[in-house]
Amino acid sequence: MSGSKEVIVVTGASAGIGKAIVQSLAGCGIRLIMACRNMEKSAAVKAILEQDNPGAEIELLNLDLASFASIRQFASTLARKKYSINTLINNAGVLPGRFSLTRDGFETTLGVNYLGLFLLNELLLPLMRPGSLIINTISCSYIIGRLNKDMFIPNPGARFMSIFSYARSKRAILVYSLELAERLSGQGIRVLATDPGIVSTKLIAMKRWFDPLTDALFRPLIKTPGQGADTAVFLTLEAQKPASEYAHLSGLCFKNRKAMRLPAKIRDKKIRKELWDWTTAAIQGR
Ligand SMILES: NC(=O)c1ccc[n+]([C@@H]2O[C@H](COP(=O)([O-])OP(=O)(O)OC[C@H]3O[C@@H](n4cnc5c(N)ncnc54)[C@H](OP(=O)(O)O)[C@@H]3O)[C@@H](O)[C@H]2O)c1
Repeated sequence: MSGSKEVIVVTGASAGIGKAIVQSLAGCGIRLIMACRNMEKSAAVKAILEQDNPGAEIELLNLDLASFASIRQFASTLARKKYSINTLINNAGVLPGRFSLTRDGFETTLGVNYLGLFLLNELLLPLMRPGSLIINTISCSYIIGRLNKDMFIPNPGARFMSIFSYARSKRAILVYSLELAERLSGQGIRVLATDPGIVSTKLIAMKRWFDPLTDALFRPLIKTPGQGADTAVFLTLEAQKPASEYAHLSGLCFKNRKAMRLPAKIRDKKIRKELWDWTTAAIQGR
């Protein structure tokens, strides 16, 4: 892409792991795009980053993954600015305690974590080139997630179990990441997934009366946001070194900088193809 400027895009850079990712990448010499929904909160993060990293090119753009219109607007802004994606770190995610719908009528956990990410990747592909890297964030909860063709039809009458919705969204991201890696292999665009581990952020708050107790007992034992960000940062920086053994990998999921062994049920070609078809059908026309 001649005349285009390379950028690293980080979704959900306003807090938690995403904020730690941009803090670690701010000095890497590539323009950083913070893709965030809360502009006021994110502007404060950007101001501190700029203060700590004089000369770093950091740009804040609005992206609400709960709205396909916002995702389209974000992608068209990047295209208009003639940006070329070096790395897209799909970090943003939610674990809502209550049932709700996205602007496009999907259950919020699945809509934001998986469908929003899927659409964003699709729309940003034209801005990628051989060597571009997509990093999708999963969680160990994927193990208990269940995928089926009706999962995109919201069921407000059913008892909402947030952990199962979250696990389903993360399993979908993992299965989809393997399928996308295969579909993009001919173009040299790489796709990896990362599991940050259990990290002390707002996401894991139970929003219950016993939070102060679990915070005091449990949070000191788990990862800091910086530790949770480490694998995504490592893979992004390794991607900048053509001689690195990590700079050409695709279709893998990393945890603690190591490729994970994935169960056959996740790698299964049939479920990968089915998920792709269910997803494109769900998104079509919205
Ligand atoms: N924490 C853990 O133990 C853990 C474990 C495994 C995986 N993960 C994954 O790691 C990622 C980061 O989570 P975290 O722990 O850092 O959580 P967090 O502190 O709650 O941060 C989540 C980020 O996502 C953003 N976000 C939420 N909804 C959005 C939307 N509709 N559009 C755009 N951005 C949105 C948030 O923006 P606002 O600031 O506007 O809310 C925030 O920047 C998630 O994908 C999560 O599933 C976390």
